[in-house]
Amino acid sequence: MSKTITVIPGDGIGPDIIESVTAILDKAGCGFNYEYADAGLVALEKHGELLPESTLEAIARNGITLKGPLTTPVGGGFTSINVTLRKQFGLYANVRPVVSFKGTKARYEDIDIITIRENTEGMYSGLGQTTKDDGSEAEAVSRVTRVGCERIVRFAFETARRENRQKVTAVHKANILKTTSGMFLAVAREIAKEYEDIQFEEMIVDAACMKLVMNPENFDVIVTTNLFGDILSDLCAGLVGGLGMAPGANIGADCAIFEAVHGSAPDIAGKNLANPSSIILAAVQMLEHLEMQDKAANIISALRDVIESGDRTTADLGGSHGTTEFTQAIIERL
Ligand code: NAI
Ligand code: MG
Repeated sequence: MSKTITVIPGDGIGPDIIESVTAILDKAGCGFNYEYADAGLVALEKHGELLPESTLEAIARNGITLKGPLTTPVGGGFTSINVTLRKQFGLYANVRPVVSFKGTKARYEDIDIITIRENTEGMYSGLGQTTKDDGSEAEAVSRVTRVGCERIVRFAFETARRENRQKVTAVHKANILKTTSGMFLAVAREIAKEYEDIQFEEMIVDAACMKLVMNPENFDVIVTTNLFGDILSDLCAGLVGGLGMAPGANIGADCAIFEAVHGSAPDIAGKNLANPSSIILAAVQMLEHLEMQDKAANIISALRDVIESGDRTTADLGGSHGTTEFTQAIIERL
């Protein structure tokens, strides 16, 4: 029986890039059934809420979700849908691979880095308050747990081992944030001993930023806490040509959500201008997660060939073609 996955087209360019990626998955012979679900502004208009119960049920039922970008309205006290999903489904690992493609506007050519970010704790635990009535003082609490640190570090080493990677770099600020980052580093050192086949390196976050820009080819797998991971993963996307080339997976024990990391790009929505590479690369991550390595490899090589030959690429890649022509060029190679 073929596997059913939940598909959330989302807002703005979401429907365009989802149409592209599902056509590619079908042509590659992945044989999925798609259960479409609404979230974001489109859901607010149709169902009166950003994240309807029926969508949450579909995500839970199918276990695997492919998600387009969602617009969180500014004002009105809406909490971020992405943060809600991470919490609700315990999606503790945010996996952001970046890999160089020739023919993009990237400054580097040999980058292949996976950033693994703890997705549920740390600075983003939502704990904090304004501490003076006149609003002149505020505090935020960063809370990490030993269980949370162990889980993410182990996930990073397991990923490194599965993908035949050489090295895991734990990025921290334990010299200043002695309690929280200190715990993360201590746990990372302990767990590293269980993986003698993989090199372990530790690096302070500010130095990591500098070294990523100067010598990105020295990095392999990076594991870090929530706030540092948020920032470093965008830095890494910049190394390979920006968010249009960067996918992300949010992985928990029972559920996983694969997404384009860019936003809904309202400036180009509905104009057949969006580059679907980010969601295509997210689908590749999804196929690897489902142990469909052959399909994943076929799709990535078709995508690489189109981008590197410049055959019908989109404007952000330096071409002059639309989402549908770019998609067609990939489909012809499958
Ligand atoms: P954005 O990523 O939507 O756009 C930034 C710039 O990059 C724009 O010029 C856009 O045209 C371009 N761009 C983005 N994706 C592209 C693609 N696939 N192909 C070609 N060009 C692309 O960021 P922005 O404008 O800050 O946010 C717009 C909306 O998206 C906001 O409502 C924000 O909340 C939401 N958003 C949602 C995310 C998600 O659901 N994962 C992530 C980031 C933002
Ligand atoms: Mg971010």
